[in-house]
Amino acid sequence: MIIVKVGGSVFSDKKGKPENFRRDVVARIAREISEFYPEKNFIIVHGGGSFGHPYARRYSIRDGIPDDWKTARFRMVGFSETHQAMLRANSAFIREFLQRGLPAFSVSTSSVFMTENGDVAYGDLEIIKRLVELRFIPVLFGDVSLDLAKGIDILSGDQIITYLAKMLEPEKVIFLMDVDGVYDGDPGEGNLIQALGRDEIESLLSKLTCSGGDVTGGICNKLREAKKIAKHSEVWFVNGLVPGRLSGAIRGDGFGTRIVP
Ligand code: IPE
Repeated sequence: MIIVKVGGSVFSDKKGKPENFRRDVVARIAREISEFYPEKNFIIVHGGGSFGHPYARRYSIRDGIPDDWKTARFRMVGFSETHQAMLRANSAFIREFLQRGLPAFSVSTSSVFMTENGDVAYGDLEIIKRLVELRFIPVLFGDVSLDLAKGIDILSGDQIITYLAKMLEPEKVIFLMDVDGVYDGDPGEGNLIQALGRDEIESLLSKLTCSGGDVTGGICNKLREAKKIAKHSEVWFVNGLVPGRLSGAIRGDGFGTRIVP
């Protein structure tokens, strides 16, 4: 089984108009996957991109449900708005897979997982396991979550993947990003690291600027999750905007960053 995370900045322009969707990119990702399917099983998890992030920020979803009812109600409306935006992204995504004869099936993250301060505290994987057994391609997504501590929160696609990797032990996890892989410095600086030791991740994190940006923490969060995932499976970071890079990572001879256990 191979788990692919399609980052929000791959299927959309995060700096562009709300809810913009790169149909051509997703169609090409589906085509690359169809070269290996059904010999290999896939689970896809996509991010929020220009769909989830603007709503999550506008309604401060990560601050949870406060005691004050007026603010709570506003935020609960925002919780649902964010989820609906993610359903629209998911639906656009799945359409591209179905059109290429790939039996992608939507699994709504917030109906399957609950969090505690942003990390998965509960996950019901029976449906996902059965879908994979039957050779469906489950498509999950970064989503809002009901949270045991704060009431509500955001669950990023990267966190979902860590949980799936721990429970399902896939052969490989591939993160598709809008850059060639992991760099030994901040964006625009530094060199691409082609093989990164699991035990080198902490020292790399201390060199990167990890604050600001996305509600779910960008590359630093990905690296922290990758460190956990690498205990269970091979991990790749490749450029999802460049044709062939996903296929290369699936074959195992691709261009990007491979996390070495
Ligand atoms: C974020 O998911 C989900 C929402 C904002 C609702 P991710 O953290 O996985 O999204 P990207 O890949 O950074 O866009």
